[in-house]
Amino acid sequence: MEQTFVMVKPDGVQRNLIGEIVQRFEKKGYTLKGAKLMSISRELAEKHYGEHKEKPFFEELVGFITSSPVFAMVLEGDKVVSSARKLMGATNPQEAAPGTIRGDYGVRISMNVIHGSDSVESAEREIALFFDRGELTSYEKQVSVWV
Ligand code: TYD
Ligand code: MG
Repeated sequence: MEQTFVMVKPDGVQRNLIGEIVQRFEKKGYTLKGAKLMSISRELAEKHYGEHKEKPFFEELVGFITSSPVFAMVLEGDKVVSSARKLMGATNPQEAAPGTIRGDYGVRISMNVIHGSDSVESAEREIALFFDRGELTSYEKQVSVWV
């Protein structure tokens, strides 16, 4: 079964959107395997966003993600990596479709409410960066019979 890494960014936490966002993934049918409110160190931020190191927005991005706590999650389910990205919507909230998380709650690309892994490989890397094995649960939901 596929797993992905999702986090509510500092703007989403500050704006009291944690519950709303978790609910969207729960209602869709995905299983929450681990979750925590945490502060991101500069070192972790630079590792997590390593692929963007040369981009002009890198400093702003690292500054933002370390500015205030995030809510980090591991979600499990069938094709959850690509499906979570669809629920999140386009990177730029101005282009994200209404009904998506970024489309409904975001305004600016630099503060777009949520992060989600972009591939199964990224998900494995990001889950390992943010969670110790002991922080993740292993259980099955009966509801998985229906979704
Ligand atoms: P990216 O990995 O391209 O987007 P996504 O989060 O959808 O995978 O970029 C990482 C984050 O960097 C993005 O969520 C917001 C920020 N960002 C900017 O601030 N400006 C930009 O022009 C881009 C492309 C991203
Ligand atoms: Mg990305």
